[in-house]
Amino acid sequence: MRILIVGDVYSVEGRETLERNLNKLRRELAINFVIVNGENIAHGSGINEKYYRFLLNQQVNVVTLGNHAFHNNDIFNFIDHADHLVRPLNYPEGVPGKGYVTINYNHKKITVFQVVGRTFIPGPWECPFKATEKLLQEVPSDLYICDFHGEATSDKVAFGLHFDGRVNIIFGTHTHVQTNDARILKNGTMYITDVGMTGSLEGVIGVQKEMILKRMLTGLPSRHVPASGGLTQFCGMIVDINENTKKVTSYDILNIIE
Ligand SMILES: [Fe+2]
Ligand SMILES: [Fe+2]
Repeated sequence: MRILIVGDVYSVEGRETLERNLNKLRRELAINFVIVNGENIAHGSGINEKYYRFLLNQQVNVVTLGNHAFHNNDIFNFIDHADHLVRPLNYPEGVPGKGYVTINYNHKKITVFQVVGRTFIPGPWECPFKATEKLLQEVPSDLYICDFHGEATSDKVAFGLHFDGRVNIIFGTHTHVQTNDARILKNGTMYITDVGMTGSLEGVIGVQKEMILKRMLTGLPSRHVPASGGLTQFCGMIVDINENTKKVTSYDILNIIE
């Protein structure tokens, strides 16, 4: 089966870039399963029901989030019945939503989950390693796919090596910058530290550059306004995996600039 993974879709430019490229890829390639990180889809911060529905209408199978999961209050209105939405697994108990979803595809169970790295991302995160061990023990599945939402590259590499062979695909998100280290690890896990973001290429990881530079150059506070106009980027990867042998047969890293 062919799985398409798309990194952090940022605001309106991200949504348009996603729709355009997804339609094009579907015309050219047989894509069976799509995972999209949507933590920045609503004005750069969080997700609302309208854009969650937008992703489902694009036939996205699973939407993952991140540290911005609850930054748009509308999420509390629909997260309890959003069967294709994954917020970080390593939130403390009692936080709404689910840290994983299991989808049946061609009589195979595909479990997609997300953990947040604890280095440089403030939050109440529990140990991503322990949370993953628990999931692997308690949730039977044919394939496991993990979105590691982390700032530190070392967190992600260590996690990849630790779960090599037990989690079939580990892809990083959150930094919004694609890394050049995709590889199949020794025991068969498809790994990349960050798939990159989808949206405007004109800003600073999605935000209008003037706002960020004002803050950096003067120390004065500034609003986060999504960048727009000019070039866009569509970042992600395609993984071909044999769902019976669980072997990754090929992969392609996407960084489409238009
Ligand atoms: Fe993000
Ligand atoms: Fe993030």
